[in-house]
Amino acid sequence: MARGIGTKCIHLEETEGQSNNYGAISYPIYQTATYAHLGVGKSTGFDYSRLQNPTREQLEKVVASLENGIDAVALSSGMAAISLMMELFAPGDHLIVDADLYGGSIRLFDHVSKKNGIQFSAIDCCRENVESYIKENTKAVYIETPTNPMMNVTDIAALAEIAKKHNILLIVDNTFLSPYFQNPLDLGADIVVHSGTKYLGGHNDTLAGFLVTNKEDISERFRFLIKTTGAGLAPLDSWLILRGIKTLALRMERAQANAIEIAGWLKKQKAVTDVIYPGLPEHPGHEIMKKQARGFGAMLTFRLENKEFALSILEKVRMIKYAESLGGVETLITYPTTQTHADVPKEIRERNGITESTLRLSVGIEDVKDLLAELDKVWKETEEEIHGREKS
Ligand SMILES: Cc1ncc(COP(=O)(O)O)c(C=O)c1O
Repeated sequence: MARGIGTKCIHLEETEGQSNNYGAISYPIYQTATYAHLGVGKSTGFDYSRLQNPTREQLEKVVASLENGIDAVALSSGMAAISLMMELFAPGDHLIVDADLYGGSIRLFDHVSKKNGIQFSAIDCCRENVESYIKENTKAVYIETPTNPMMNVTDIAALAEIAKKHNILLIVDNTFLSPYFQNPLDLGADIVVHSGTKYLGGHNDTLAGFLVTNKEDISERFRFLIKTTGAGLAPLDSWLILRGIKTLALRMERAQANAIEIAGWLKKQKAVTDVIYPGLPEHPGHEIMKKQARGFGAMLTFRLENKEFALSILEKVRMIKYAESLGGVETLITYPTTQTHADVPKEIRERNGITESTLRLSVGIEDVKDLLAELDKVWKETEEEIHGREKS
């Protein structure tokens, strides 16, 4: 019987029964750069930690198993992972990428990959006809679903069919849902990207990134690239992410339950003009998410009646932290305009729907009553300030 994902977060079935590591329950941190050979041509299997390290290898196996891939490579950040992935492409290649992506991915494509001769069509992959953008030199489609920060949902299986028909790769950044809620490879994607900094690590204490695949040739290429370019995840960071993953199931469930309550609360606030959360039945991607994912996650975006209201909330929150990033146990509130998407040109931001009154919440695992109490307090103070001033 196939094991459940909660169990797979804790136990790596393929190494069970082996008498490694003195039976240590917590996987050891192999803090070593290099490895002694037992004799000429007698390697332990590890030669130098840029190529591979036992702690990193254990983590890579766990992540591959969670995403149902044949291989995963662990990099020093999500951006290091995406940068390595871009080495699959050559000057003159064309990629179709979603227009609404994490701002750092857009910056990489616009300011690094373009200089390297890669061409891009940035389109709305969930609403536009992706097939009509495929050209002779198109090599891949790159999406996030749901997207950061606008929570657009793309039908992965439908897009995978188009990609297969044209013999191009489908690459899905699965950071927002984590493998606990969604497995793009099972739906026909070729490569899954993760910022392991987020839900996989889960504690806002280290950076990591992953590329997972179920294709032998891509895995071989990733192994060559990680050895050659050198941004593999360090042993201690690999251990932190391994430890974080152990509680992924519990964290995802709790954070999602909190997010559902907060989405409901936000919907009742007069100052909120839009609550964008795929768990709400009115979200345009709700039905697709029900089909392709096991949950809706804990990321939500909302718009306020004006910028002043948004800024006041950011000034006043205390337990909820005004900070970049997402996916940790702490609830974070982010201002995409000046934080995650600051480098995205204003007109593109606005076309994507990121206004100056748009805020993004990464809901954590605190007691939801405390989160709601803080929101309520901050809201009341803001309303009093803004509306009091209007009256006087
Ligand atoms: C969806 C998504 N992908 C990739 C990244 C980049 O990850 P990292 O910050 O670990 O480099 C982020 C960062 O916020 C993200 O939100």
